[in-house]
Amino acid sequence: MTVQLDGAGAMREAMVAALRKEGSITSGSVASAMNTVPRHEFAPDEPLVNVYQTGTTLWPKTDANGRKTSVVSAANIQAIQLEQAGVGPGMNVLEIGSGGYNAALIAEVVGPTGSVTTVDIDADIVDRARAGLARAGYEHVNVVHADAEHGVADNGPYDRIIVTVGAWDSPPAWLDQLTPNGRIVVPLRFAAITRLISFDRSPDSPSLSADNYRLGAFVPMQGDGAADEKLTAVTPDIGLRVDQNSTLTFDVPALRKALNSKPVQSWSGKPFDMPDELELYLLTSGPEMPMLHAAQDAVDQGVVDRTVRIGTPALVRGGSFAYRVKRENPETVSGYETGVIAHGPQAEQVGGELLSMIQTWAGEHYRRNAAQIAYHPNGTDTSGLIGWHTAKRHGVLTVAWS
Ligand SMILES: C[S@@+](CC[C@H](N)C(=O)[O-])C[C@H]1O[C@@H](n2cnc3c(N)ncnc32)[C@H](O)[C@@H]1O
Repeated sequence: MTVQLDGAGAMREAMVAALRKEGSITSGSVASAMNTVPRHEFAPDEPLVNVYQTGTTLWPKTDANGRKTSVVSAANIQAIQLEQAGVGPGMNVLEIGSGGYNAALIAEVVGPTGSVTTVDIDADIVDRARAGLARAGYEHVNVVHADAEHGVADNGPYDRIIVTVGAWDSPPAWLDQLTPNGRIVVPLRFAAITRLISFDRSPDSPSLSADNYRLGAFVPMQGDGAADEKLTAVTPDIGLRVDQNSTLTFDVPALRKALNSKPVQSWSGKPFDMPDELELYLLTSGPEMPMLHAAQDAVDQGVVDRTVRIGTPALVRGGSFAYRVKRENPETVSGYETGVIAHGPQAEQVGGELLSMIQTWAGEHYRRNAAQIAYHPNGTDTSGLIGWHTAKRHGVLTVAWS
């Protein structure tokens, strides 16, 4: 029998095929859910062609400063998080940050014997989510208006908690409301970057451990779990960003002078590949580094390389600094080679130090998911911790490279 698809149905199939091809969907259950749930019902004013793109966020809500506080997330990020979560039939799942669509996908996967609760701090978004879920036929999803810092105790414990808003920490309520073998999938911010981390809990340990993380960006958490970062302006167009708990300070006049000095470039001979993995290694394996950011003007004027536009770790030593760049090199597997640009009176030394870190990563950790990330809630014995760690409000995050 040939099934006739409407326009949205055909676009949905094409979206799922594309998500499979790019590797965001890896399981039949996520593919089937994404093929079934009418995504357009959760962003009714958006053109269908946008709704069924793989990487497009929908229906943004902005605050008084024009910053996005809510979106229906891009389909590829939703697929990645659902795959990370490993949701199965009959599970009880809490989604933090609503929109409706992702909750409907989870409802499809858990099926009639499972249960889904989604919570949002914004009453508008709660209304939107309820309306979308009703239009699409998923009224049985529980939509709660609350600050997710405190979870939703009434409907727990949860087999899975899927956080769809940028978090800086894992508050005690999430762990209290998680089953002993549960999993939390969370876009966690540390060292001024975000990674979508899949944390597993085991009944034998109070700590959470992760063997799986991916790149991804989300709107920031509001409410009691909100966190800020510190941005130091070197020039009006160039800044250094660090975590709110960082104690790094910068010699801004010296760095400004360094920016005007002739850069020293050096090349590693190693492929430019998996830059997100290298970025994580640079930020969590040696001296503390800020993220260097620049406005397009600074790139256009040639003050910094275009890599800096989206942010890159910088090794800063007094009035000198270095960051990684790439150039075409057909001899490498990726067709590009990683190198370093350094500025300032100690450019040779700082550039050499960064290049040597890049070479160590390329030699010893050049693969996906090479870092072991763990979270140890306050009260856990952390006296024997080795490797990079950062103190959060409710625990300590560690990143180890072996
Ligand atoms: C990216 S959107 C969620 C997308 C949604 N899961 C979907 O189906 O596409 C993030 C949401 O998190 C919400 N949020 C931010 N801080 C929150 C908090 N503390 N508790 C609950 N929700 C929060 C925002 O209002 C926003 O609607």
